[in-house]
Amino acid sequence: MTNIKNRRWVLDHYPEGMPGEDTFRLEEDVPIAALGDGEVLVQAHYLSVDPYMRGRISPAKSYAASIEPGQLMVGGGVGEVIESRSDKYSAGDFVETMGFGWQEFAVLGDRGLNKVDPDLAPIESSLGWLGMPGRTAYFGLFHVANIQPGETIVISAASGAVGQVAGQLARNHGCKTVAIASTEAKLDWCKEIGYGEGVNYKTEPDLAAALARVCPDGIDMYFDNTSGPIQDAVMMNLALHGRIALCGTISLSATFGQPDIGLRLNRQLLINRARMEGFLVTDFAAHFEEANQALAKAHKEGNLKFREDVMDGIANMPKAFIKLLNSENFGKQMIKI
Ligand SMILES: NC(=O)c1ccc[n+]([C@@H]2O[C@H](COP(=O)([O-])OP(=O)(O)OC[C@H]3O[C@@H](n4cnc5c(N)ncnc54)[C@H](OP(=O)(O)O)[C@@H]3O)[C@@H](O)[C@H]2O)c1
Repeated sequence: MTNIKNRRWVLDHYPEGMPGEDTFRLEEDVPIAALGDGEVLVQAHYLSVDPYMRGRISPAKSYAASIEPGQLMVGGGVGEVIESRSDKYSAGDFVETMGFGWQEFAVLGDRGLNKVDPDLAPIESSLGWLGMPGRTAYFGLFHVANIQPGETIVISAASGAVGQVAGQLARNHGCKTVAIASTEAKLDWCKEIGYGEGVNYKTEPDLAAALARVCPDGIDMYFDNTSGPIQDAVMMNLALHGRIALCGTISLSATFGQPDIGLRLNRQLLINRARMEGFLVTDFAAHFEEANQALAKAHKEGNLKFREDVMDGIANMPKAFIKLLNSENFGKQMIKI
């Protein structure tokens, strides 16, 4: 039994519209349970802040169960084992897991943990380019959409955690890449990491026309991180046999659980014999090692840069999450504990 006290965020209530800071409640001085066989006590160093968390704080049906009010907020994290009753991990090891939760300490079973080698890359990389977002980019491009050299690939939320990796992997593969983002600073970063073109969806008066200008031969593949009006503009520019890998719907954050609205451009799919396919990174769990190796190789060769947006302290978890939903993050959002 440890004397350490935990701080953690629980869901206060399901938000209507955009979540606010009062959607969550901080609990302090929470006792930490004694370790059972096969369990470890991990002290968080970094917690991941991700758009999927919006789905967990809604009662609407989704691919994963909702959190009930009063329950610990879900989330990934990376930290150090400080006590162990596992034969797989010892005190001093670093581990990463999607099941950490919004808390400073977690008692975790050793089965769902991934060992992190701090000599390979800074440990927080396991939440970014060498973790779930990086793998999402890899599978969307290569397993869902089967991109080919020479194709035109458009990516929304292009400077974000998934987007910046997707842009560079597609560029490395010999594709023409187009970034869509909300600010000139983000588009400048996208250029710096190798995107060929950039379009600001906030300032372009006619996004479909702007995409037509930079994609004169149409869009072969759209890596859709947002859904909503950006997807409509892309649909108007699909190339023959175009593919849309539907990765995320962050533009629907304020209307979560309500019917999606838009232009309903299904005929564009028909005309172009195009395909739109939703996917989850976890669908490809059997191929994670393949993705990890490809990402590590690109990084080692200097062809994968990554920007992080790090805020300090557990108290800032709700702020960081709301920032992300409002386009105010610049790079992979995380919290340093
Ligand atoms: N399918 C999967 O397995 C999987 C896995 C990981 C992530 N995802 C999804 O991938 C997407 C990106 O995730 P991420 O972790 O890389 O986040 P991120 O891109 O680092 O951050 C979210 C970004 O979304 C953009 N955004 C926010 N509101 C928007 C709106 N109303 N319209 C258009 N863009 C908006 C903002 O970029 P701008 O400033 O450019 O607007 C914001 O910076 C999310 O939709 C997420 O749910 C899916």
